[in-house]
Amino acid sequence: MNRRYRKTIIAGNWKMNKLPSECKEYILRLKEKAAAAKWCDVVLCVPFTHLASAVKAARGTRIAIGAQNCHFADKGAYTGEVSCAMLADLGVKYVIIGHSERRAYFGETDLDVNKKVKAALDAGLRPIVCLGESLDIRENNAALDHIRMQLKFALKDITAQQLRKVVIAYEPIWAIGTGKVATAEQANEVGSAIRETLRAIYGARAARGVSILYGGSMSEKNAEGLLAMPDVDGGLIGGASLDTEKLGGIIEAARQELKGN
Ligand code: 13P
Repeated sequence: MNRRYRKTIIAGNWKMNKLPSECKEYILRLKEKAAAAKWCDVVLCVPFTHLASAVKAARGTRIAIGAQNCHFADKGAYTGEVSCAMLADLGVKYVIIGHSERRAYFGETDLDVNKKVKAALDAGLRPIVCLGESLDIRENNAALDHIRMQLKFALKDITAQQLRKVVIAYEPIWAIGTGKVATAEQANEVGSAIRETLRAIYGARAARGVSILYGGSMSEKNAEGLLAMPDVDGGLIGGASLDTEKLGGIIEAARQELKGN
């Protein structure tokens, strides 16, 4: 992380877990931990059904609420879908886009991701754009090329001005929910490659302002080493975010790291 140029962001992704009625108590437990971490933005991404209660419970705290998906159209005949305008109207601030689970199980393409990123920005939401390679790709030494390609697709026609609102999350598929975490060096290598690609497209100034998160079996135990790396600006946390003690431990690790930054 680098406090001078960009925000540290610790974001929980509940995926399809917990009930709407559990948001209030969870946020009550987490809010002191979020309050203590001054330079760190704390985000909680919950299912659509939980958003209204989460936004309400998070009012007056340092926790911002995010969604886990959106549709790219503003409105229309898309039964079962939710637009970014709807999310923004609820008080949602972030939206995860292109998570590998959506790409794998729901056929989301790079083109969809790009359309969703544009829709999120148009609605005033901050997209958390997920990139990541499979084990196969990594073993074939093609991880960096794959990530660069996903990144370029996701940000096609996004301006430098818009980029200021974009958050990138590097989530190696082989590390998600497996307990197999990337080493700090691996996470940083990809983080640096992402920033290098951003620099080539948008220039050094715009690139250094982008927060690049790591996701994949991040926990209160391994967070410190990951967050110490210059191109790991935070985390996108699945399993460990279901427990406020664990997510709180990661926020605390970020706070400690930021003190010395
Ligand atoms: P885990 O932290 O459970 O590995 O999930 C990571 C993730 O997919 C966050 O979006």
